[in-house]
Amino acid sequence: MAFPRHRMRRLRQHESLRRLVRETHLTPNDLIYPLFVTVGKNQKTPISSMPGQYRWSIDLLVKEVAETHQLGIPAVMLFGIPDRKDARGTAAYDPKGIVQEAIRILKSQVPDLLIITDVCIDEYTDHGHCGVVQDGKILNDETLECLRQMAWTHAEAGVDMVAPSDMMDGRVGAIREELDRSGFCDMPIMSYAAKYASSLYAPFREAADSTPAFGDRRSYQMDPANAREALREVELDVEEGADIVMVKPALPYLDVIAQTRAQVSVPIAAYQVSGEYSMIKAAGQQGWIDESKVMMETLLSIKRAGADLILTYFAKEAAQILNRRYT
Ligand code: PBG
Repeated sequence: MAFPRHRMRRLRQHESLRRLVRETHLTPNDLIYPLFVTVGKNQKTPISSMPGQYRWSIDLLVKEVAETHQLGIPAVMLFGIPDRKDARGTAAYDPKGIVQEAIRILKSQVPDLLIITDVCIDEYTDHGHCGVVQDGKILNDETLECLRQMAWTHAEAGVDMVAPSDMMDGRVGAIREELDRSGFCDMPIMSYAAKYASSLYAPFREAADSTPAFGDRRSYQMDPANAREALREVELDVEEGADIVMVKPALPYLDVIAQTRAQVSVPIAAYQVSGEYSMIKAAGQQGWIDESKVMMETLLSIKRAGADLILTYFAKEAAQILNRRYT
């Protein structure tokens, strides 16, 4: 005996009523803002494939990060664009590297905002791969050494959390061991646990100049066809000591977010990647969709699927809208 006794539309009559029965709420507390930091001074270079996003020099980044903090966003994620690249990505673990310098300055200028760093050498290698290359192969265990050093130099500089995104096996355990050994046992690790070999990273690779010079990333990033394998990746990372696990990209992988939510109790992050951002921006610019509404709908969906934290280039725009609501 459903209809006419039950009418689902009763609770949809009024916005205040809809607010009362709303199951999922997005707040600025959910958001992490990814930013690109580069060398030089007074630089704010637009990234053409990501309208509204820039490569920042540290002096201007400080202002952007302060604004982010004022909007109530708890954290930023830093990606470095160095002035030199080589085969082993040594600029990634230079104690005076671009990200290490940015951490020091941002922590002194905006101390309450959480700084998270991407730990992966692809922005620093001349071949663009996320690992050390030999005879066209990406070497796993050799790469772990680079990642240990990279995480350690970030910790030394004062970072609040490290986020390995390379997809080498055993990196979470290796970084955990390195951090513990060097006195950073309280430093959390957010691992990009289920990171797919996605075509949606293309705008980011333009921004970071990290398109692989040969081949692709399918020997280390996950096959988009696989969900059970994602759960194994997540389990292994939790076992190795990950404090937060990430699914990436977000919208095409909501099922993976939901299954991960059902499987583990650690917080889950989802990364709305560059391609997801740029598609919404582009369609908005064409007038084909309402950019702000689609932005909010996608972020809400990612949260509804089970993500606790969302990395998104829309963080500031979304926080502005959320801060205006209900006031
Ligand atoms: C690797 C890394 C990538 C992204 C985040 N970390 C690039 C890749 O795997 O090719 C992509 C993020 C995005 O597309 O927004 N350092």
